[in-house]
Amino acid sequence: MNNKDFLWWKHGVVYQIYPRSFLDTTGNGVGDLPGIIKKLDYVKSLGVHAIWINPFFQSPMADFGYDISDFQSVDPLFGSNTDMLTLISEAHKRGLKVIFDMVFNHTSSEHPWFVESRSSLDNPKRDWYIWNEKKPNNWQSLFGGSAWEKCDFTNQYYYHFFLSEQPDLNLRNPEVIAEIKKIIEYYLDIGVDGFRLDAVNTYFEDENLMDNPDTDYCPAEYTIDCQIRKYNFDHHHNYNFLAEIKKLIDSYPGERMLVGEVAKDGHDKDAWKKYYGDAQVGLDLVFNFDFLYNSPNVNQVTDIVKAWESLEMHNWPTYVFSSHDQIRGISRYVLEGDSIETEVKKAKTMAIFLLTVRGTPFIYYGQEITMNQYTDLTNDQIKDPWAIRTNFTVPTRDGCRTPMQWDGTKNAGFSTSEYTWLPISKNYPQKNVEVQNGDPNSILNFYRKVIQIRSENPALFGGKLELLEDNPDFVSYTRELDGQKVLIIINFCEHSIKPESECQTGNVLISEGLNNGEIEPFGFAVIEKN
Ligand code: NOJ
Repeated sequence: MNNKDFLWWKHGVVYQIYPRSFLDTTGNGVGDLPGIIKKLDYVKSLGVHAIWINPFFQSPMADFGYDISDFQSVDPLFGSNTDMLTLISEAHKRGLKVIFDMVFNHTSSEHPWFVESRSSLDNPKRDWYIWNEKKPNNWQSLFGGSAWEKCDFTNQYYYHFFLSEQPDLNLRNPEVIAEIKKIIEYYLDIGVDGFRLDAVNTYFEDENLMDNPDTDYCPAEYTIDCQIRKYNFDHHHNYNFLAEIKKLIDSYPGERMLVGEVAKDGHDKDAWKKYYGDAQVGLDLVFNFDFLYNSPNVNQVTDIVKAWESLEMHNWPTYVFSSHDQIRGISRYVLEGDSIETEVKKAKTMAIFLLTVRGTPFIYYGQEITMNQYTDLTNDQIKDPWAIRTNFTVPTRDGCRTPMQWDGTKNAGFSTSEYTWLPISKNYPQKNVEVQNGDPNSILNFYRKVIQIRSENPALFGGKLELLEDNPDFVSYTRELDGQKVLIIINFCEHSIKPESECQTGNVLISEGLNNGEIEPFGFAVIEKN
């Protein structure tokens, strides 16, 4: 293995922090940057190598920060630019890399660029966004309704893939590209190690603005998803643009990186692979969202691993079970009637897979204590604009964004406020960091242990992967590097299994439910074979 193979973003573990929900230090019910700084020792104690923080830049918060009105200022709700600099240096002091979330597909409609652009037909920034005299086609916004919004100032329509408060930038305009590069340079200069790029599929659109074809079926109540996104998704210019950004990143010292939010919702089902670029000129990492929609079962796990192993060897996979946009992984995996013990067992199989498969693992805050999806939100408690604007036909994303459960005190130790921006999960007195810290068998301490084992065994963080037995009940694979070989067997079913792979010999790095070559329901074994 050479040094290039040991890049932090390839072999490290990334912890995602949703800043609104991590820790509130001002008592206003919303998390903030000083809150993250306060909890960096906790994050470090997990053994992870990097943090990714969702956007905290100035924003009217129509989409909770994904509508940016000033790319270079921290929103006062989250703190100040000084806090941001402190956060970077405090993270670095602890050996944690820092990934910021950059939204270049669109801005807020309150961004001064858009305010200028919409003001008149001959404004110098008119062409910074995508304008048309009439609705030129049938494109739909992901968040419901037409993707074209009439603007009263000039009686023309602008394009927005997401909310109408999120007008799409015209990335064909070199002035826009120059501004984006300045923003990236600003963050590289202050020491940011990597960027999570939002919504890269939708950067460019077809220049002829062709109508998208309809899907075969469209449920009557749906306002979205009834067309195949052929002309406003995965445009080939997206790849060129990313290659340009990558070149800029690589001109900076240190191992800076780009990870892109790549959805597979487009017309070309193989487009996701193209975002890596030929010979690695594109994104360093592409998010793997394949596990975000179902609970892990053997067929699915095998298919997903095969798909990501089919990448060129120099393209590195990623694995994700939970995010700020989808139902928390554990709540998809646990069935009604499952006991707490079964939940913990299932969470452990998920963690073992995530941390031993070949690729960069992303852990979403709270995943390490099995925080569940909050399912009892009433419509008037819902904040997510996507759910609200589709009249709740799209499930709210709020349930995976509830505040972090630190301890058993008021508001789970998240905030001293009477009101928190989203309610705290009712199970916080039993399920919180403090309780789990003190329990050697907790899922929290399990995550710590497995991350440590991963970090100490190069085969686990860097080795090649080979899938073994084809069995509907369990998944088994080896990881191998420089003479070290580790066998991993995970039982994803409700009865014991007896794998053919030899699991009675070797150095057991970690296991649960392994008895005389058999593995109990939701048990696993990670065994060094030589
Ligand atoms: C993807 C982000 O993950 C999501 O939260 C956001 O609403 C959209 N992009 C729009 O920026």
